Amino acid sequence: MRMKKSTKWVWVSFLIILLVEGWFCEGCWKQERDALLHLQAQFNEPVGYDISDCCLWDYVECNNTTRRVARLTLSGRWYKWVGNWYLNISDFQAFEALESLDLSFNSILGCVQNKGAGSAENLSFSFSNLKHLDLGHNFLNNSGILSSSKGTLSWPSNFEVLDLSYNSFGNDIISSFRELKYLKQLDLSGNQLEGSVDINELYGLTKLEILDLSYNNISSVVARQGIKMSLSNVSALHLDGCKIDGNMLRKSLRPFPYIKNIYLNQNQFKGTILARDFGELNNLEHLELSFSSNITNEFFESIGSLTSLKVLSMRSCGINGTLPIGGKLLLSF
Ligand SMILES: *[C@@H]1O[C@H](CO)[C@@H](O)[C@H](O)[C@H]1NC(C)=O
Ligand SMILES: *[C@@H]1O[C@H](CO)[C@@H](O)[C@H](O)[C@H]1NC(C)=O
Ligand SMILES: *[C@@H]1O[C@H](CO)[C@@H](O)[C@H](O)[C@H]1NC(C)=O
Ligand SMILES: *[C@@H]1O[C@H](CO)[C@@H](O)[C@H](O)[C@H]1NC(C)=O
Ligand SMILES: *[C@@H]1O[C@H](CO)[C@@H](O)[C@H](O)[C@H]1NC(C)=O
Ligand SMILES: *[C@@H]1O[C@H](CO)[C@@H](O)[C@H](O)[C@H]1NC(C)=O
Ligand SMILES: *[C@@H]1O[C@H](CO)[C@@H](O)[C@H](O)[C@H]1NC(C)=O
Ligand SMILES: *[C@@H]1O[C@H](CO)[C@@H](O)[C@H](O)[C@H]1NC(C)=O
Ligand SMILES: *[C@@H]1O[C@H](CO)[C@@H](O)[C@H](O)[C@H]1NC(C)=O
Repeated sequence: MRMKKSTKWVWVSFLIILLVEGWFCEGCWKQERDALLHLQAQFNEPVGYDISDCCLWDYVECNNTTRRVARLTLSGRWYKWVGNWYLNISDFQAFEALESLDLSFNSILGCVQNKGAGSAENLSFSFSNLKHLDLGHNFLNNSGILSSSKGTLSWPSNFEVLDLSYNSFGNDIISSFRELKYLKQLDLSGNQLEGSVDINELYGLTKLEILDLSYNNISSVVARQGIKMSLSNVSALHLDGCKIDGNMLRKSLRPFPYIKNIYLNQNQFKGTILARDFGELNNLEHLELSFSSNITNEFFESIGSLTSLKVLSMRSCGINGTLPIGGKLLLSF
């Protein structure tokens, strides 16, 4: 009986040693280390590490408790002047606890699964913990990424920060964010959004705080009436470098009733922009209109209606002469 018990213990210890040897590799997990070695074999510049603990490698950050890879910073690692990089999602499958992935500046065209019409649908399979994804400055477009079997893309549903800036996405990409109910920041700057951008599909994004639509050819933002309640956490809207239509401005801002910061620098406004256009926004504290064209002195006539405003930036807007100051505002210089 006693012999049997100790034999059992030997076996258990032996098994534990096997498991530890097999999975845990001097500070980091073996299958994650192998996956990293596979990834870095494809880097532009070879990296040589003589540290066996992959948690100490410069582009890797591990969870301090579990020692699993939590963050990968792979910005520019595969950059090529001609965009020809297709992501193989399978290469990332080993990172089960990945929370943050930076793939910016990598000339990514799509995913390898179906070349030419890269499907990001499968992103959701591998990255259930992913909260922060940076795909900025790549060569992704709607047809490249939206044409999956279901016709719509499904991002991992736990996203909090999604950066798709400086790709070639058009207005249709908006509908793919429908399910991202934890999203706090969405960056679509420098894409090919155009004209009236319909944001009805953002209805469920109640946690959204920062929406960046800068440097797109946008003239207005449209939404049905009810959407303003669900977007009430949006505190900053970036619309720099757009072509906002002054006649539509008031309506474009209606979905964001509690907004605090609005950035409209470098706009080529169509029509007239008046302070009154921001008058319904009772929490507006910070408004930037610098380097924008087609703003006239008339803007200031209704400036008294902006009672919560603390900062107004209007450098190089072509304003000159005497300002017609309306309302109760006391200007001090
Ligand atoms: C580390 O992992 C544990 C277990 O998965 C998790 O509870 C914790 O939040 C993680 N820590 C960080 C800083 O992500
Ligand atoms: C792990 O701990 C270090 C300092 O002890 C900290 O700088 C780092 O952010 C932590 N990593 C994670 C993923 O929490
Ligand atoms: C993607 O990666 C997996 C595993 O790393 C590999 O088996 C597969 O062949 C790769 N697919 C392509 C198209 O390269
Ligand atoms: C991608 O996801 C679809 C289901 O949406 C699945 O049928 C397909 O096998 C997946 N492809 C890969 C390469 O994992
Ligand atoms: C979209 O990207 C794909 C490559 O993924 C490319 O073949 C296609 O020409 C691009 N379409 C547009 C309109 O740029
Ligand atoms: C911007 O969009 C308008 C239509 O909304 C179009 O007429 C114009 O050509 C576009 N400009 C550029 C630079 O794409
Ligand atoms: C705004 O965010 C807070 C905290 O994340 C949340 O509790 C609240 O429900 C959100 N507002 C709306 C209108 O959903
Ligand atoms: C806006 O300003 C540009 C010059 O900066 C001018 O060419 C254009 O006619 C103006 N448009 C309107 C609608 O005022
Ligand atoms: C001031 O504005 C008026 C009309 O807006 C314009 O005609 C005039 O040239 C401007 N003067 C200067 C010095 O820019």
